[in-house]
Amino acid sequence: MGTQVRLCARDDLAPGSARRFDVDSHRIALVRIGDDFYALGDECSHADFSLSEGDVWSDECEIECPKHGSTFSLTTGEPQTLPATQPVPVYVVQVDGDDVSVVIP
Ligand code: FES
Repeated sequence: MGTQVRLCARDDLAPGSARRFDVDSHRIALVRIGDDFYALGDECSHADFSLSEGDVWSDECEIECPKHGSTFSLTTGEPQTLPATQPVPVYVVQVDGDDVSVVIP
C-alpha cells in the first residue's frame, strides 16, 4: 500500500537532473532522465552525503555520489562501484499528467 505524496510538477525537474525532497522522515532524491522519473534514498549508504547533489548518468541510469564517487542504480538502488557496498532505498514513482508523486511505504 503506502501513501502517495506529490513532490513536484513534471517540468520542475529538467532531464538529467536530480533534486532532494523531504517527506516526513524520508529523504528522497528524485531524478529525471528523459521523461522518466526515479526516486531513491538521498543519503548515500557509505556516509551522509546527498546523492541528489551528484551527477546523473543518463545512459547508465545511475547517479554518482558527490563525495567518493560510488554510483547507484536508479532502478534497484544498488551501488555499482565502491566504496559504497549497501543499497539505498528505492521508491515507486507515479506520474499523473503534470504531477510527479512517490509512494511512501
Ligand atoms: S559518501 Fe557516498 S561514496 Fe562515500
